Amino acid sequence: MGKKSDVILGFDIGGTGLKAALIDLDRGKLATDKQRILTPQPSSPKAVAKAIKEMLKEYSGYKGPIGCGFPSIMRKGVARSAANIEKAWIGTDVEALFEKETGHKFYVANDADVAGLAEMKFGAGKDADGTVIVLTIGTGIGSGTFLDGELFPNTEFGHLLYKDNIYEHHVSNAARKRLDLSWDEWGERFNTYLNHLEKLFSPDLFILGGGASKKMEQYQHKFTIGTKVVAAKFQNDSGVMGAAMYAKSRMKKK
Ligand code: BGC
Repeated sequence: MGKKSDVILGFDIGGTGLKAALIDLDRGKLATDKQRILTPQPSSPKAVAKAIKEMLKEYSGYKGPIGCGFPSIMRKGVARSAANIEKAWIGTDVEALFEKETGHKFYVANDADVAGLAEMKFGAGKDADGTVIVLTIGTGIGSGTFLDGELFPNTEFGHLLYKDNIYEHHVSNAARKRLDLSWDEWGERFNTYLNHLEKLFSPDLFILGGGASKKMEQYQHKFTIGTKVVAAKFQNDSGVMGAAMYAKSRMKKK
């Protein structure tokens, strides 16, 4: 019999959905189907913590730690911003809150940062050197930034300014749906954003993740930048995978 593989439960908290799956960390893949429910509205800390507890019923045999991606600036387990979730999250110790509600040890980091960890280790950024920017395109725009494989956390490139607003409101997948843009129209907008990022950071690679990454063939012909742009290998699954990887990395540091 082969060695028993390392399995950790990963959660991905989004402005629209909450996702969870057991992750096989040795093989870099989901060990169970992904469970997905809608984020409670309003998305207060109490309501989200309760929803997580409810989702955990699916994994009643699992007693281990939980990794979690969260859609805000995260510093030492505490949320420091709230763009697509209730403002009450700002200053909340998310790790302590979820641990209290569920009895599990939680390790929580920015959602795009953890999605990036999965893509860099097992996915589209495997073995990529230099500067890699992973952009998650969903309710908001998240960014995970890597230099020679090392994460530079909380870069928040979705909040760079565009005209009198932030890019996220102009180019997220939610903006595409809200404004009823065709893929061509949206692709042109996203190209403006990529050009801006390219000028500022001279990256070696962009990886596009989140909902819109599944449709890249519909809009990539609009891109005019010199930097290579690829779709995330795990698309919307990088969040749960990277969350479990993040938990593992924090456990190692102790
Ligand atoms: C938040 C980021 C998050 C991104 C994707 C943005 O609005 O500020 O922290 O990574 O949405 O969820």
